[in-house]
Amino acid sequence: MEKRHIFKKQILLIPALFVLGLGSCYYDNEEDLYQDIGNDCETTDLSFQRDIKPIIDGECVVCHGNNDPIGGISLTEYSHVSGAATNIKDRINRPPGDALRMPQGGMDPCKVEKLNVWINQGALDN
Ligand code: HEC
Repeated sequence: MEKRHIFKKQILLIPALFVLGLGSCYYDNEEDLYQDIGNDCETTDLSFQRDIKPIIDGECVVCHGNNDPIGGISLTEYSHVSGAATNIKDRINRPPGDALRMPQGGMDPCKVEKLNVWINQGALDN
């Protein structure tokens, strides 16, 4: 009789722990996201020349330059970057450890956010 009682308690405990575990995991991720992008990440009035090109030059052109670019894509000019915008957005937002993530080790979340916003606004030559 007593054994059955304990067994029932454990069955209830397992889903309870699972729900709690998921809840805290989700909360942590959300908190990290807000912390990482930072309060002083300026994403209004983004300009390709002033804000976007320096990020691409600093993070991507070492591999995606003009001479025999790795991966077959050059990102040295506006037309290259705007032409590949959807592809770029996909690559920079992939999670750590994803083989297609660009750059592989990730970059400052504020830079990712600037690229996302600029691409979402139509990847303008401004
Ligand atoms: C250390 C070298 C390196 C850096 C830095 C790098 N890439 Fe790449 N990239 C590669 C390689 C290698 C490939 C080909 C393999 C693949 O598709 O993942 C590639 C492929 C790509 C592709 C797919 C091209 C296609 O034809 O589909 C895109 C888009 C891309 N990179 C964008 C970027 C962007 C944007 C950055 C900077 C934020 C960046 N990469 C930084 C090495 C790099």
